[in-house]
Amino acid sequence: MLAIARTTTKSTEGMRPFDMRRDLAPLADLVELTFASDPDGMCRSVVSEMRRAARTGPALWLAAASDSGNGSMMGGYVWMAGKRLVGNVTLCRDSSYADLWVISNVAVHPDYRRRGIAEQLLTAALLDAARRRARAVVLEVQKENQVARHLYDRLGFVIYDSVAELCRSASTGTTAQLRTSEPGAESAVRRQRAGDCRGLCDLLRQVTPPAAQAIRPVRESDFRPGLGARLDRLLDDWLFRRQHGSWVLERGGGIAALLQITGQYAYDSHRLKLIVRPSERGALEEPLLSFGLSWLARFPDRPAWAVVSCSHPEALSCFERSGFKTMRVLDQMQIRPTTLSESPTGARK
Ligand SMILES: CC(C)(COP(=O)(O)OP(=O)(O)OC[C@H]1O[C@@H](n2cnc3c(N)ncnc32)[C@H](O)[C@@H]1OP(=O)(O)O)[C@@H](O)C(=O)NCCC(=O)NCCS
Repeated sequence: MLAIARTTTKSTEGMRPFDMRRDLAPLADLVELTFASDPDGMCRSVVSEMRRAARTGPALWLAAASDSGNGSMMGGYVWMAGKRLVGNVTLCRDSSYADLWVISNVAVHPDYRRRGIAEQLLTAALLDAARRRARAVVLEVQKENQVARHLYDRLGFVIYDSVAELCRSASTGTTAQLRTSEPGAESAVRRQRAGDCRGLCDLLRQVTPPAAQAIRPVRESDFRPGLGARLDRLLDDWLFRRQHGSWVLERGGGIAALLQITGQYAYDSHRLKLIVRPSERGALEEPLLSFGLSWLARFPDRPAWAVVSCSHPEALSCFERSGFKTMRVLDQMQIRPTTLSESPTGARK
């Protein structure tokens, strides 16, 4: 029997599709409860974003109606116990790759665990993605989360990459500056330009593991956003009071490193991303990061988060030397819908 066929009507026990208009606020409560032990602010910012959206009322109804099954807004399945939302799996279309789907917010209330609820919700989400012709479905799980890992392994997910998330608390301020091993290199950092597309593409292809490129192929067009995308970003930046910066460092006639930063004036943490060509690793991380931290000094003193590929240990240690701490390591997992059957694991009855 298909897991999805177990969908029940409201106010009985069982599964039904997520409805953004009524489920967002109870989902925020569930996520807050289930991820309460997380040592970072990521969960808090997701929860407060959900609560903010839930309060927008008519705007939320309009957004949900305009999505009309496209999948770019939050979807997925919830598990109801009476009128109480006790389980959730979110399914959305990836914002950059239309045939890639993303699972997140996998959560079951502690009183309802080990009854097969998560497995059934995931099975329903995977079948949904398969029906929408998903090329792959991806999710992220903390390396040490054995319970979730066991569940995902069982369903057939496999790891395609791993990234570390690092955080520097606000109180560290801008004092923990790096002493750069290549003093001249910092001055060679320049703003990313429109003509950098090809060079950036080459760089990304060199640093991205083949399995990750199979999931998210590196495309030149990603570095050439259209007018609509640029306007969207400007509007978002204005609404959320933030500013983006993107810089490159050239070596040997090509782009050897990329630094991207989002600085926040009000709501959230600063975000950093640092990519260095394998042949230049160990030399360019310090000048770039030192440059980036100086740029961030113009923003209010807020926590800063960085995402670094686990295949780039030189960047990890450089961030750590400048006051960042590794908060968690995330395994990125994928499943191909072609490997899905009607009931991938023989979901419990
Ligand atoms: C992970 C979580 C969603 C599982 O929910 P659940 O409804 O209890 O899971 P299920 O009952 O569907 O379990 C399915 C399978 O997962 C694995 N699993 C679930 N709980 C487990 C546990 N405590 N220990 C070991 N394996 C476990 C088992 O393989 C299990 O199958 P089995 O019972 O036949 O052995 C739930 O524990 C939770 O909300 N945890 C906190 C949030 C979280 O970590 N989410 C994942 C983020 S990536």
